[in-house]
Amino acid sequence: MKHLIDIRDLSVEELNSLMDTAIDIKNNPHKYADKCRGKKLATLFFEPSTRTRLSFEAAMYELGGNVLGFSEAASSSSAKGESVSDTARIIGCYADIIAMRHPKEGAPLVASMKAGIPVINAGDGGHNHPTQTLADLLTIKIKKGDFDNLTVGLCGDLKYGRTVHSLIAALSRYSNIKLVLISPEELKVPWYVIKDVIVPNNMTYVETKSLEDAMSELDILYMTRIQRERFEEKEEYERLKDSYVLNLSKLKNAKDDLCILHPLPRVNEISVDVDLDKRACYFEQALNGKYMRMALILKLLDIKSQTEETSVSEKIVDSIVCQNPRCITSIEQELPHRFKLTDAVSNTYRCIYCEAKAKND
Ligand code: NCD
Repeated sequence: MKHLIDIRDLSVEELNSLMDTAIDIKNNPHKYADKCRGKKLATLFFEPSTRTRLSFEAAMYELGGNVLGFSEAASSSSAKGESVSDTARIIGCYADIIAMRHPKEGAPLVASMKAGIPVINAGDGGHNHPTQTLADLLTIKIKKGDFDNLTVGLCGDLKYGRTVHSLIAALSRYSNIKLVLISPEELKVPWYVIKDVIVPNNMTYVETKSLEDAMSELDILYMTRIQRERFEEKEEYERLKDSYVLNLSKLKNAKDDLCILHPLPRVNEISVDVDLDKRACYFEQALNGKYMRMALILKLLDIKSQTEETSVSEKIVDSIVCQNPRCITSIEQELPHRFKLTDAVSNTYRCIYCEAKAKND
């Protein structure tokens, strides 16, 4: 059984396939309207959420499935002291797949060990947020076509911003990415991300406090909120909360095709006058999150997406008889004759055993 706990649980090929499916869903939603008929998604949210929970729920409804769950710890049995392990084990009896957000780092991993059904990490403390990364990647792909050779600025709370940690892990798979890590001293990327992800993957990176200095070289600017709820000292939050405010005048030196992203919600780190700039991509990014979550649900429930079903290599027919006398089917009578579409343009079918072409008479 597959879960999504860390973005690296998915290979680059799987990420590509999810993006292809998400784009197909976006263009042909009717083809997917019944794919999850009879299936249930449980959304277990022990922390506040708007986009992640509701886009998961919308995703499941648009696939024809159903949703159950809770949106705050207070309305679940955790308020009575139930463990994450027990909650997961119980929900595994009621649903087919779980999306879980929890303030404790590693809670969704624990759930995945107990639930007996696929578990998706919808954000664990200040640690990871892989499905936000799916939204980020699809938006970058649509805007830039590819991931290689990009200069990516990550700005704001790089310490507690879990979306940043997952995005860096995803980008570490591609070549020649330069990271510009823009934060106050107190909110720098955690050492383990540098040591375990950035350095071993030979990613080029610089750390700076100045957004203005970095602006002109960026292809992507990923703004983040200062994560008030993770601060131990309220005074420290108050001191750092307005560290970066992106406005139109700060974009003067930016590239014309800069792509501005933000996982949202924003507080005041992007002023609303930027929303009308063609480089602002964050609302589209939120929409892309729904399509990627639909693609992910299909994948984890092992339901074939339309792109997989219609791909040339998967199209198999059993109505053609192999004429090749050297084919194994000529001596093993019980074998079903099966032909695979290997070239959709010339409509060529080949025997799955001997690769002989089908005779078109
Ligand atoms: C992010 C999160 O929850 O980590 N929000 C989201 O899921 N889109 C970012 C944030 O809360 O700042």
